[in-house]
Amino acid sequence: MAKQIVDAFGRVHTNLRVSVTDRCNIHCFYCMPNEHIQFLPHAEIMTFEEIQRFVAVASRLGVNKIRITGGEPLVRSQVERLVEQLVATPGIDDVALTTNGMLLANKAENLFRAGLHRLNISLDTLDETVFERISRRQGLQKVLDGIEAAIDVGFEQIRLNAISIKGLTENEILPLVGFARDRNLELRFIEFMPLDADQKWDIDQVLTGARVRDIIEDEYGKLQPVHRSNPSQPAVDFGFADGRGRIGFINPVSQPFCHDCNRLRITAEGKIRNCLFSIREWDARSLLRSGVSDQQIEQLILDCVASKKAAHGIDSSEFLRPEKAMYQIGG
Ligand code: 5AD
Ligand code: SF4
Repeated sequence: MAKQIVDAFGRVHTNLRVSVTDRCNIHCFYCMPNEHIQFLPHAEIMTFEEIQRFVAVASRLGVNKIRITGGEPLVRSQVERLVEQLVATPGIDDVALTTNGMLLANKAENLFRAGLHRLNISLDTLDETVFERISRRQGLQKVLDGIEAAIDVGFEQIRLNAISIKGLTENEILPLVGFARDRNLELRFIEFMPLDADQKWDIDQVLTGARVRDIIEDEYGKLQPVHRSNPSQPAVDFGFADGRGRIGFINPVSQPFCHDCNRLRITAEGKIRNCLFSIREWDARSLLRSGVSDQQIEQLILDCVASKKAAHGIDSSEFLRPEKAMYQIGG
């Protein structure tokens, strides 16, 4: 039988998220500190060759989907070269990337040519003032230009990711819905998770997917559930009565989807993680740099996933936040 990465709860891991940098050109408060950021020195970042070897090993264990993340992946020089290498890796059927869109206007065409056909673009607001409040930088127009460029280039799938935070994003919801419907893009609302670098997250700040849905339904009428073909896809999707547009809800806090999780992660510095919220990491980079066999790297992946917990437990009194914030883990 083909090798598989299976954890203690029978979850088969086929999905790998690869962070290519912890750097970013904006500083969203839910992800990064504003000042005194200690970015990884270049020597500690995985080279493209190391990433490629790691992905090749993972693919022989059944990983077939890759998502490139950051920090902001497009600040990594020549990331399209990595895309090309990953697309060409035997066993990898799907390569996607999550970006804040700031550099996309310049990069969309090269990424598409390199074989990238699916993109998630973060867009929390259409209002520059709110954008600055969230990202502590200017640049909404750059993101919007990036989205238009991606549409023009012909990406097969472009999803917009909007984070939902109580007292901050309620008024952004309907404008975003209109924007996405006009362009026929899928829009997904993501609940705020305790991964902000400032460690200020509080459960009371979570604007739940259910609440966002109410706000949309008050305007558009009942949303229509869309059949979910892939149960390990965290978003629950809905369409509109008029058939135009699609909305997804990713509710990691109010409706954890850990039971269907098929994801593992490797950070920019080459640590394998079995969960966004894992406390422990497994050091792949040291192995890759010490000339070990593929079999030893395989074993590290299997060991990491073998100790995956059943669930993140955000709602439990014993929940411990990881020390690392989102930008250090990869979205
Ligand atoms: N909670 C939820 N989503 C987050 N992201 C970043 N930080 C958080 C957080 N604390 C999301 C961004 C982006 C993706 C990379 O991760 O909205 O879409
Ligand atoms: Fe950068 Fe994305 Fe983190 Fe915002 S969420 S600071 S865009 S990496």
